[in-house]
Amino acid sequence: MTIPQFHQIAWLPDQAGVRILDQTLLPREERRLDVTTIEQMAEAIRTLRVRGAPLIGIAAAMGSTIAASNGLVSFLEACDTLEATRPTAVNLMWALRRMRERARRAAGAGQELRAAVIAEADAIWTEDRTLCGAIGRAGLHLVTDGATVLTHCNAGALATGGIGTALAPVYLAQAAGRKVRVIAGETRPLLQGSRLTAWELTRAGIPVTVITDSMAASRLRQGDVSCVIVGADRIAANGDVANKIGTYGVALAAREHGVPFYVAAPYSTFDAATMHGAAIPIEERAPGEVREFHGHPSAPADVPVWNPAFDMTPAALIAGYVTDRGLLTAKELGRLG
Ligand code: MRU
Repeated sequence: MTIPQFHQIAWLPDQAGVRILDQTLLPREERRLDVTTIEQMAEAIRTLRVRGAPLIGIAAAMGSTIAASNGLVSFLEACDTLEATRPTAVNLMWALRRMRERARRAAGAGQELRAAVIAEADAIWTEDRTLCGAIGRAGLHLVTDGATVLTHCNAGALATGGIGTALAPVYLAQAAGRKVRVIAGETRPLLQGSRLTAWELTRAGIPVTVITDSMAASRLRQGDVSCVIVGADRIAANGDVANKIGTYGVALAAREHGVPFYVAAPYSTFDAATMHGAAIPIEERAPGEVREFHGHPSAPADVPVWNPAFDMTPAALIAGYVTDRGLLTAKELGRLG
């Protein structure tokens, strides 16, 4: 069984820009968007046309190259613009730091700079594909024949340059001939679980059942979930994890019902400079995302709304970190630095 390719990102011919799969339109429509300006890429990241911590980093890195023909100053300004789009996923800052360092080393202007940053963006993308494969192998033993994995949000292929983080062990288990089933939390308010995780798993022929977020605790109590695997937007030095809003509740319920809760992420999601989860900046998004559902009002027009895009799960609730350097405990996370 081969794992399907989703072509979530690609270069335009002659690296004149970036072609992205517009994830806001899924599952209704599979449409690709050609991004040829920095503003367009910033908008695509801000509005979640392209999303998921590793893919945001890759998209920003590839997108930043658009500014390189205008010289180093323009390039560095473009990096600042792209970095300001979303605050929580540290992969964005990690990728742009690499891009800035490569640009400064390239020294020359124009074509030389452009070639150097395109090579770096390409390396970031290629590396992420390798990291996803390594995460899949590190977590493969967690997904035994007949396993049911509960996940939240989308930490699959659509969130990365490869086969995903949380879903990588699932894809490899299926490729190894194991029967595996996924329960996907819908992920209010933007529905990454029902729109994206269910879409890519269905494409891959992996049985998936969608639940609303409020059903996760009851489902974990039923006793048929083998483990929970989620992705991460940032892992602090002590192992606390920022991930999609709702993750913390799933972790609490998993603990209560004795279901192991794992976080899958590459080293680029580990932030050794942030000591604990409370110091991770949590993005707050527009109230309209909660007041409306599919373009229709789902609350009084002016009712106050709290809309954090992420929450923080303390390390104490996490059974292990499925990383490209193996399955680690919180104390072993220093190996990712
Ligand atoms: O707001 P999103 O859709 O970018 O949030 C995505 C998540 O929270 C993912 O779980 C996380 O980025 C890990 S993706 C491998």
